[in-house]
Amino acid sequence: MEDSLSSDSIAARGGWYRDFSTRPSTPALFQTTAFDVEGLEQLERIGAGAEHGFLYTRDGNPNHEALAGDVAALEGAECGAVFSSGMGGMTAVLLGLLRAGDHVVAARVLYGRTVQMLNQLQADFGLRVTYVDANDPMEFGRAVTPQTRLAIVETVSNPLMEVADLPAIACQLGAVPLMVDSTFATPCLLRPIEHGAALVFHSGSKYLNGHGDVMLGVVVGTTALVRKVRAAGALYGVNSNPFECWLASRGLRTLPLRMQRVCETAGRVAKFLARHPGVARVFYPGLSEHASHEIARRLMPTGFGGMLAFELPGGKDAVRRLFIRLGERIPFSPTLADARTTVSYPAGTSHKFLSATERQACGIGDGLVRLSIGLEDAGQLEQELGAALQG
Ligand SMILES: Cc1ncc(COP(=O)(O)O)c(C=O)c1O
Repeated sequence: MEDSLSSDSIAARGGWYRDFSTRPSTPALFQTTAFDVEGLEQLERIGAGAEHGFLYTRDGNPNHEALAGDVAALEGAECGAVFSSGMGGMTAVLLGLLRAGDHVVAARVLYGRTVQMLNQLQADFGLRVTYVDANDPMEFGRAVTPQTRLAIVETVSNPLMEVADLPAIACQLGAVPLMVDSTFATPCLLRPIEHGAALVFHSGSKYLNGHGDVMLGVVVGTTALVRKVRAAGALYGVNSNPFECWLASRGLRTLPLRMQRVCETAGRVAKFLARHPGVARVFYPGLSEHASHEIARRLMPTGFGGMLAFELPGGKDAVRRLFIRLGERIPFSPTLADARTTVSYPAGTSHKFLSATERQACGIGDGLVRLSIGLEDAGQLEQELGAALQG
């Protein structure tokens, strides 16, 4: 018979369910800091890898493993790891794979914070970085030195939607591992590993989750590289939290359907905007006039994505007026891949960390608006965008 417990002890040890013989119909959430261990023998078996168990959530958790494993399977990768945000994942990649004196070849157009992190590590920690034009694979080959340990490229790029020729870039890099930030493409549209990438990076805060309510980073690739990245993530404490992984696992179940839908709607809206007299230029890889159209057709045969950008001839003032007219119907929100359509302003959000000259060099003008297509009706979006542009 159990010892009778005081109220304090009942309260302190409470909350446990009884054992039961059926299984939950959806994955369970392991919202726990640590896992109880039977004894020292089990601790040793887990430490030695002889038994699969979890000890401390910073180092691993079943919800981490479920999400990372599913994304790895979708990408055709050997294994994966999850982090507190996309930038948490980037921290783990750069600190896990690189040392002072190492060299990185990076595409000139990358998410602004990624460039900022590379520049910071270059200025303060002795990393060396060469930026190249992602549209010219030969530049990658020319930039490689004996110290090059990593190359980074984004596909589809933010915010001009350029699609890098991954097989040509991988070929130029030889043995240097290529990491592809595939946040915009998702494994439904492009699987970089099939085209020579060693690592695929996602801001899981975006399409993988798809509901605008988590911060997550996911890195998948070869076991040797992902192990180092995961270890750095645990060391520097950029682990994700179980609930956000659980939410993202739920979002991931509808990823193929969501991607199919946003591709269809974005294609239609891109054509609508390209015809509109109030728009100077539209950037969408599905349009035949887009610089990357041919590469996109080859690498993304099932769809060109849900992201597009367009340039207003009136610059920042015209953008200000457009955002006011769009109001809450298509809100200005500095994120993407929500279930609803949103607009953003790259020069003031994702790329505000670049100088005006750097932004101009990348082709990010003051009149550029980024549109993240959601799951609404395409006709409704055309009508709302048309009305706002008309004014
Ligand atoms: C292409 C791309 N990479 C990386 C990131 C960073 O991810 P997070 O915001 O989850 O830290 C973002 C964020 O918008 C992004 O768009």
